[in-house]
Amino acid sequence: MSPSSHAPGPRRPTDAFARQVVMVTGAAGGIGSAIARAFAAEGATVAAVDLVEAPLRELAATVPKLLPYTADLTDEAATATTVKAVELQLGPIAVCVHAAGVLTAAPVAKTTTAQWKDMFAVNTEATFHVGREVARAMIPRRRGVIITIASNAAHVPRVDLAAYAASKAAADMFTRCLGLELAASNIRCNVICPGSADTAMLRASGQEPADAVAGAPDRWRLGIPLGRVAHPTDVAAAVLFLASDQARHITMQRWIVDGGASLTC
Ligand SMILES: NC(=O)c1ccc[n+]([C@@H]2O[C@H](COP(=O)([O-])OP(=O)(O)OC[C@H]3O[C@@H](n4cnc5c(N)ncnc54)[C@H](O)[C@@H]3O)[C@@H](O)[C@H]2O)c1
Repeated sequence: MSPSSHAPGPRRPTDAFARQVVMVTGAAGGIGSAIARAFAAEGATVAAVDLVEAPLRELAATVPKLLPYTADLTDEAATATTVKAVELQLGPIAVCVHAAGVLTAAPVAKTTTAQWKDMFAVNTEATFHVGREVARAMIPRRRGVIITIASNAAHVPRVDLAAYAASKAAADMFTRCLGLELAASNIRCNVICPGSADTAMLRASGQEPADAVAGAPDRWRLGIPLGRVAHPTDVAAAVLFLASDQARHITMQRWIVDGGASLTC
């Protein structure tokens, strides 16, 4: 098996999300763009939100019915403006997938306060900003799905990832509490926790896919039992199911998509 994962075979398009507006944050990134493409392939109109403009425009040029929205989601006013603009221009948001995130790996003794704050600003506070604004829009309609992309590091202690893991654990619990509050409004909220996925974030953290698969006993990393890192579309496939009506009875759940790396802790 190759440690660097190839995309699984193409899904048969189902139009399952036809006439639905799906907002995806972090849509310029590896996992977010795979999620945005997957929803577009199923007929959705996709609002692709990210901090960086150029890759969003490239995505919009190749994916029909995908509209780019540039926003810094750590800014609550910018988040509210973006959600309002999407609803005004595209229609009511049926599904929101929040995949924007940042990671700086460092031992705690060397982690700066600025790095800690940056990870909490993007990974935690932006999750609150997005969840709150989208919830405000969805509650009167009594319909919607919110999915947060957290990380398996949110549940398993990891060397050099204390700030990242803590910020993702907060995002995970926030999303599941939101699911409890919004259940009475028929809005489902779930969390997907990827393990190592082959994207710019993984490589920037200094890990090669082969290292992630092999594990590292000196760093208490077990490796990946399925023998490969995730392709971003592996994460997108889980998101699509959770967003679909097939998952209408699933809320407040955390799904770990990591090839078994965390032994389902
Ligand atoms: N790649 C992995 O191995 C892995 C593992 C577990 C979890 N994750 C999580 O999956 C999500 C996607 O990761 P990825 O691997 O695609 O990373 P990526 O770096 O390719 O994409 C992240 C995207 O988030 C955007 N972003 C960052 N700050 C933002 C802000 N303030 N406002 C709006 N957008 C912002 C970035 O511009 C980027 O396009 C992240 O939340 C990440 O923490 C990734």
